[in-house]
Amino acid sequence: MTDGPFALIFPATDETIARAAALLASGQLIGMPTETVYGLAANAWDSSAVRKIFEAKSRPQTNPLIVHVASVERLSDAMRWPPNAVVQRQLDAIIDLWPGPLTIVCERSDRIPDEVTASSSTVAVRIPAHDVALALLDACDFPIAAPSANRSRYVSPTQADHFYGPSGVAEHVAMIIDGGPCQWGVESTIVKLGDPGPTLLRPGAISLQELADRFAIEPESMLAINTHQESILVAPGMMREHYCPTTKLVLLDRSNSQTSDVEPTSSRVGRIAFSNISADEADRYAAVETLSSRGDLREVAHHLFAALRRLDAEGLDAIHCDTCQQNGLGHAIMDRLKRAAARHSAG
Ligand code: TXA
Ligand code: MG
Repeated sequence: MTDGPFALIFPATDETIARAAALLASGQLIGMPTETVYGLAANAWDSSAVRKIFEAKSRPQTNPLIVHVASVERLSDAMRWPPNAVVQRQLDAIIDLWPGPLTIVCERSDRIPDEVTASSSTVAVRIPAHDVALALLDACDFPIAAPSANRSRYVSPTQADHFYGPSGVAEHVAMIIDGGPCQWGVESTIVKLGDPGPTLLRPGAISLQELADRFAIEPESMLAINTHQESILVAPGMMREHYCPTTKLVLLDRSNSQTSDVEPTSSRVGRIAFSNISADEADRYAAVETLSSRGDLREVAHHLFAALRRLDAEGLDAIHCDTCQQNGLGHAIMDRLKRAAARHSAG
């Protein structure tokens, strides 16, 4: 092991991946890259290892975990196999999105312990599109349970060094494999399969429109409020306050002409811009993070959580952040931002 501030971070090599697989097999936690955000990984078949995830994150035990598998052939390690005809048909429509930032919720395999699913009969499963994650999954003869590797309710990590610091979980892992900055920077899209359904449980890197096109249905019909009139069903972890920085986050409505509402009122205000802002405007802020020069939402998502973390570490009075249209990737970006702002907003 190396010394220094990031002693547990190792570059991804055949050797470190084999070591991580052995650590997982022995019941320990490790940090793993994926194309969305970094995961806090455990052997999904090992209930005592899975319990360590909840302790490390201070995560409510009622909030179930996503299980990662290496390939379609190994879906049966996590979900009931074969699925019923309805689920099979829905799965066929989206299966080529894997490996990718898509998670399905369906009936679980008997091998998945209650700890993973919060005792639900369903399980969330995905095949990540990241070479290191896939190599690690390949090296394990069990599936990997991995939530985002942050303390519960804080911003998800998108770089290996995000395991360190006040919201980090480094002290709970045996090693962290560095896979570079995550390509997407927002979590996977979660869709519940079955009847009624399919239902969107969390907007993510794959857009609602793209899924609706695959299923040949209207996007609106996939929203939980439409498919489940009686019990409004969302992913149990979708609390109103989530992804929260410690600093007050204020969302700027650029279509609102009343911009005086959001003028910085102290010199200790930071700014997250989705595209270049004027020098005049930048001068009014203590720090500015420009996520994309031209408002490209792929770039915005990619840089968003790291920028939030950097500004949150500055001890500012507030962070003012741009907003965008809630479609395509903007749906996931705005979902995260609204939850991140909820702690300090009224109601
Ligand atoms: O991109 C991602 O999905 C990342 C990477 C690491 O794969 N993982 C991730 O995990 O975002 P986490 O734990 O932060 O979010 C998992 C979400 C939670 O909102 C949880 O409630 C939901 O998935 N979930 C898990 N199992 C479920 C189930 N059986 N039914 C409904 N929702 C479920
Ligand atoms: Mg999370």
